[in-house]
Amino acid sequence: MKLIALIAFTFSILQSATVVDAGDMFAKSTNCKSCHLPIVNEWKESWHSKSHYKHDEYFKKSIDYVSKKSRKSLNGVKVECATCHNPRIAVTSTDEEYEIDAVMGLDKGSKVDKALADDAISEGINCVVCHNIDKINCKEKDSIRGINRIEWTKSGVMSGPYSDAKSPYHKVQHRDFMSNKSNKLCYVCHANDRSIKNVVFANTQEEYAYSQTLCVECHMGKKRLSVASTLKIDHGKAKKRKIRTHGFRGAHFDDMIKGALTISAKQKSSFILITLKNKLPHNVPTGFGSREILVELSYLKGKKEIKKESISLTTHYKDRRKRATIPHLAKTSSKNMSIPAKGQKILKVKKVKGATSVNISIYYRLVNDEVRSLLKLKDDIWVKKSPIVSKKIKLK
Ligand code: HEC
Ligand code: HEC
Ligand code: HEC
Ligand code: HEC
Ligand code: HEC
Repeated sequence: MKLIALIAFTFSILQSATVVDAGDMFAKSTNCKSCHLPIVNEWKESWHSKSHYKHDEYFKKSIDYVSKKSRKSLNGVKVECATCHNPRIAVTSTDEEYEIDAVMGLDKGSKVDKALADDAISEGINCVVCHNIDKINCKEKDSIRGINRIEWTKSGVMSGPYSDAKSPYHKVQHRDFMSNKSNKLCYVCHANDRSIKNVVFANTQEEYAYSQTLCVECHMGKKRLSVASTLKIDHGKAKKRKIRTHGFRGAHFDDMIKGALTISAKQKSSFILITLKNKLPHNVPTGFGSREILVELSYLKGKKEIKKESISLTTHYKDRRKRATIPHLAKTSSKNMSIPAKGQKILKVKKVKGATSVNISIYYRLVNDEVRSLLKLKDDIWVKKSPIVSKKIKLK
């Protein structure tokens, strides 16, 4: 009996992430350009295309840091993160034997080494990640995500939104998670991101449960009349279709951030009450832990600034020794300070004496000071403050 249970258990682990080779004709977005050029160009601008060790400084340095602090090999950590960041990887887990080899430097040229060096995964979340998903196992445990939650189609079979499409280059198949149920696709990765100690630090799915709006309405834009493929398949012309854009614009883009919250403020005796309202169906910030909302107050007497103040709304993480750390190594976290989905947060600030007015400016930052300095992030985009909204009120 025990033996059967053991076999069944091992089998279910193996079954959870079956690797299927995407095939040389399909593995990279360059293979799609001749017939889907506008889509390829839109996607290239998105951060899905930068989701690789080489292309996102924050991701790279987080991997380096996790490896250093957890004493797991760099490649071992890369494979772990690939679950959601590079799902077309040919190796989906590493074992203890590999870790020993890696420590001794005997892993050069190994299967893991080759899988990580494969140029095809350098595109991160590319066309054949989303469009080669055959099934999403929504009934899996919440902690099972990315590569472990899905099954791939055979090489050259694209799942898509249409039920009547034909292509000379690849097979097509309709899937509901590509059309009216596309949130299921996003939740494969945008949910239940957790630390090695099981602290969940990002869960857009949970925040979202009660909204009917699809993620793609905002992150791929409204449907518009254009063409899905530029190939002339419709009486010598490209076929007209209702399509969306493949921009997946989010917090890395100023135009998305602007207006994400609204503000109202009033004085109440010696305090200022600032109300931040969020109309979006997910928290602001949603997604990755350590994002930050900054509230900056500039107090004026007449036209002269007499004092500046800054309040940070962010989450801090501590490791098992209670030292500041990054989300992935967290044992505990401070309170979630994000503005809840379709909700609000009211801040109460003590007014500065003598001030006749105050300018209140709300900004968004991709990473707070603490994590930025732990990881020694260099690029300007991590310090940049993106304006959300501002307001000036008179004081008595
Ligand atoms: C993160 C997942 C994801 C990635 C990556 C992705 N797509 Fe899509 N794609 C979708 C979804 C979802 C739809 C359906 C949107 C809808 O109609 O609601 C779609 C629709 C399409 C369509 C139908 C026409 C349209 O634009 O609506 C084509 C063709 C397509 N994708 C090709 C590509 C190509 C080529 C790439 C790589 C450059 C790519 N996709 C990358 C998720 C993705
Ligand atoms: C030789 C041209 C050609 C190439 C190359 C090509 N496609 Fe297509 N693809 C088409 C045509 C034609 C359609 C159907 C368009 C229509 O019906 O409006 C299509 C449709 C699609 C659809 C929508 C399918 C559906 O049922 O909704 C997806 C997704 C897609 N292609 C992805 C890709 C990806 C990813 C690549 C690169 C790996 C690629 N295609 C390469 C011609 C091509
Ligand atoms: C295979 C996993 C996976 C799937 C499926 C997926 N995403 Fe993502 N998404 C990611 C990862 C990983 C990142 C972060 C990439 C980075 O910053 O390096 C990301 C980033 C984003 C961002 C932030 C971009 C920015 O500019 O800040 C948005 C918005 C987004 N995804 C929307 C979607 C939507 C909408 C869907 C469903 C149609 C979807 N994603 C499906 C893994 C996924
Ligand atoms: C009504 C429009 C709207 C819908 C629907 C929507 N979003 Fe967003 N999303 C935004 C805006 C605006 C931002 C930029 C503000 C921010 O970062 O919170 C954003 C930001 C994001 C980010 C980057 C957040 C960060 O702080 O790192 C991710 C990831 C994301 N959305 C995923 C999703 C997913 C997944 C869904 C569906 C479950 C979804 N969004 C539905 C409007 C929307
Ligand atoms: C459950 C799926 C999942 C796993 C596993 C995962 N990530 Fe992510 N990661 C995401 C998603 C989704 C986003 C985008 C959220 C957003 O934009 O806020 C993201 C974003 C990030 C970002 C922010 C990037 C940026 O440009 O702002 C970093 C850093 C990151 N992940 C590091 C890691 C590391 C390191 C690992 C492995 C230890 C890892 N992730 C494993 C899903 C995952």
